[in-house]
Amino acid sequence: MATVTFDHVYKRYGDVTAVSDLNLEIGDGEFMVLVGPSGCGKTTSLRMIAGLEEISEGELRIGDKVVNDVAPKDRDIAMVFQSYALYPHMSVRDNLAFGLKLRKVPKADIEKRISEAAGILQLERLLDRKPKELSGGQRQRVALGRAIVREPAVFLMDEPLSNLDAKLRVQTRAEIARLHQRLGTTMVYVTHDQVEAMTMGQRIAVMSEGLLQQVGTPQDLYDNPKNRFVAGFIGSPAMNFVEIPANQSANELRSGGFTFPLPPDYKEALASANGAKVIVGFRPEHLELGEVGGTVATIQGTADVVEYLGNEELLHVSVEGTEIVAIVDSEHRVRPGDVVTLKLPVEKLHMFDGETGLSLTRHRVAAAA
Ligand SMILES: Nc1ncnc2c1ncn2[C@@H]1O[C@H](COP(=O)(O)OP(=O)(O)OP(=O)(O)O)[C@@H](O)[C@H]1O
Ligand SMILES: [Mg+2]
Repeated sequence: MATVTFDHVYKRYGDVTAVSDLNLEIGDGEFMVLVGPSGCGKTTSLRMIAGLEEISEGELRIGDKVVNDVAPKDRDIAMVFQSYALYPHMSVRDNLAFGLKLRKVPKADIEKRISEAAGILQLERLLDRKPKELSGGQRQRVALGRAIVREPAVFLMDEPLSNLDAKLRVQTRAEIARLHQRLGTTMVYVTHDQVEAMTMGQRIAVMSEGLLQQVGTPQDLYDNPKNRFVAGFIGSPAMNFVEIPANQSANELRSGGFTFPLPPDYKEALASANGAKVIVGFRPEHLELGEVGGTVATIQGTADVVEYLGNEELLHVSVEGTEIVAIVDSEHRVRPGDVVTLKLPVEKLHMFDGETGLSLTRHRVAAAA
């Protein structure tokens, strides 16, 4: 087993900086997910760990060994790619054995590793089939099996589920999580899907445009996003954002149909905020239908579109030109065109600097005795 450390790592392709000043420590046995939109540098980072991309600047360590100049085959890693290619003319058993034979692993050892991997991935009854005789999910498991039999110190996976349909993706997601629990090997998993990241990662590293935005547990990122990007990227449907003029009354921020009492935790930061506006963020799932009044945050608008989801409904609400999304109990049966009042507790509000997009600092205020 091994740790993986990026120490001020850069990757440049000519003028393009694909990864910029990456500092990240992946713990021994940890399941770390790299997530971010297309082109943010996830695959590049993974390929640098694998040794498939040269590092332009900085240091990459596996364990305490600097591996910048170590060949891929000497790094003790196994990588599962998005488009895994199985050898079509070989049986599942031979596909699993192939890499080991190349490495001159003794035959008895190969047999043992294959039967273990086949047991973990439930491939026992498929060992004599050819890839074309397997379903997409089964092929995916063979690709994982090829990595497992290597018994690497670190597993690298680049969007390994993207070729599967939605249902199979959910199943295989759980299988990979189980695999990690069972093997306890360090895993670095790349995806652009924040749901995959949230459900699988012990910690998640969020990237945007080559820059690491935040690293934390799923709950950390959900509860305490460092900036507007992370706040909007983690969570589905995405967090709502409303721009509001700053420096209003001491007790609330108000604009159009929005009334936000100031969250006590943010009062200090808001008092010293220097921008002309703040951005208030709140998640669709924290909104509820209610009446005007009380000390909660209140939003009044018109439901434009109502998407019925069974137990819940998703409301697209127009608040004097600003669109927001709410998820409410479907018992309410809101109809398009209805004027609605939405409420949420002030503790669920997030505040961001209007210029930098950074979260305003929270100062815990002791509860009144
Ligand atoms: N060989 C290359 N030459 C030039 N630019 C490259 C090369 N490989 C990647 N890039 C650029 O580096 C950036 C990061 O690419 P990367 O493949 O790491 O993105 P990604 O986060 O994996 O995206 P996706 O989710 O689409 O797979 C992109 O802007 C890409 O165009
Ligand atoms: Mg990629």
